[in-house]
Amino acid sequence: MRLLIVGGSRFLGRAVAETALAAGHEVTVFNRGRSAPDVPGVTAVRGDRESEADLERLAGHGPWDAIVDTSGYVPQVVGRSARALAGSSPVYVFMSTCSVFTDWPLRPLADDSPVYACPPDAGPDDGDYGALKAGCERAVDRDFPGRTLHLRLGLLLGPYEDVGRLPTLLLRIADAGGARDERVLAPGDPAYQVRPIDVRDVARFTLGAIEQRLRGAYLVTGTPASATTYGELLQSCIDATGSPARLEWVDGAFLTRHNVAMWTELPLWVPPEDVPWDNDTSRAEAAGLRCRPLRETVADTWAWLAADDGKVRHSYRPNRPHGLDQDREREVLAAWDAEKASGSAG
Ligand SMILES: NC(=O)c1ccc[n+]([C@@H]2O[C@H](COP(=O)([O-])OP(=O)(O)OC[C@H]3O[C@@H](n4cnc5c(N)ncnc54)[C@H](OP(=O)(O)O)[C@@H]3O)[C@@H](O)[C@H]2O)c1
Repeated sequence: MRLLIVGGSRFLGRAVAETALAAGHEVTVFNRGRSAPDVPGVTAVRGDRESEADLERLAGHGPWDAIVDTSGYVPQVVGRSARALAGSSPVYVFMSTCSVFTDWPLRPLADDSPVYACPPDAGPDDGDYGALKAGCERAVDRDFPGRTLHLRLGLLLGPYEDVGRLPTLLLRIADAGGARDERVLAPGDPAYQVRPIDVRDVARFTLGAIEQRLRGAYLVTGTPASATTYGELLQSCIDATGSPARLEWVDGAFLTRHNVAMWTELPLWVPPEDVPWDNDTSRAEAAGLRCRPLRETVADTWAWLAADDGKVRHSYRPNRPHGLDQDREREVLAAWDAEKASGSAG
């Protein structure tokens, strides 16, 4: 089939492009050619999704069997591409997020959980990320009535991750015993659940969903079968990198008292009472969602970072700051040692 990806060069869009090409599909990507090189083998149309003239020119390269929008964040902007491309494809797949649910992250999600009421013509300042993504869904529905597929995605990991979560953990652990201390601060409890999803599994599900002509909205997060623990996540990082790291598990309440930021300074760490990972993915699973073990995601992400004699890892710059620097990690571990010595830890 012929596929148009609006975006397509960084992380999720890149995985969709690679997976589609590997399956023998024809892929057009539309982006400005600024943030990353395109996947070899795609047809690239250069342009800005904010420009109506560029979108009109893009429509001239169609039609396509499906449009997959991986780069939409603002309803007004997404509305422009939906309007310009309404006659170019039977379906518009919008990559959304589980942050569209008002329950997130208060309780586990299901497909029928309530969604933010953001209007389809909202501008960038009319809401936060989750509310605006809900508005984007509505903007697509307006021009593709009955012809949309919204995939409400959970936390994504995998090769080319540009956010900074798994790469930060891998790089910290890879440096243990070399550029960084061998003793690595590990947060909370090794038994804490984590249930991310590999971008390549999202990409595979997306192509299958297009082929099955699915419509509507699907919650697409890690499945119960792919759930694992924070302990397993860090051990997978040690195994992938061959690091001599020694994990020091530090009580979560202690870390909070010492102002260590969950999720950013210690990527993916949130106490289970703060983020429930156990969403109901049964509908997506019935439609073909299968998630690989996290261990495989970790190994492949390391293989990407370590590629080209380490050039990838040395030029890696995440979108947002993640991780603890050496001094801060040492300071927190020293305070933890003192607390343990005083007998009040635990
Ligand atoms: N990361 C997570 O854990 C997570 C969780 C849930 C949902 N999501 C969703 O997953 C998606 C992730 O996106 P991604 O960045 O990985 O997608 P991507 O398609 O791989 O990369 C973003 C693309 O958009 C292009 N782009 C940016 N601004 C543009 C503009 N004005 N005009 C044309 N092209 C433009 C970029 O290229 P140029 O800059 O060169 O133009 C790039 O090709 C997002 O929709 C996000 O909401 C992510």
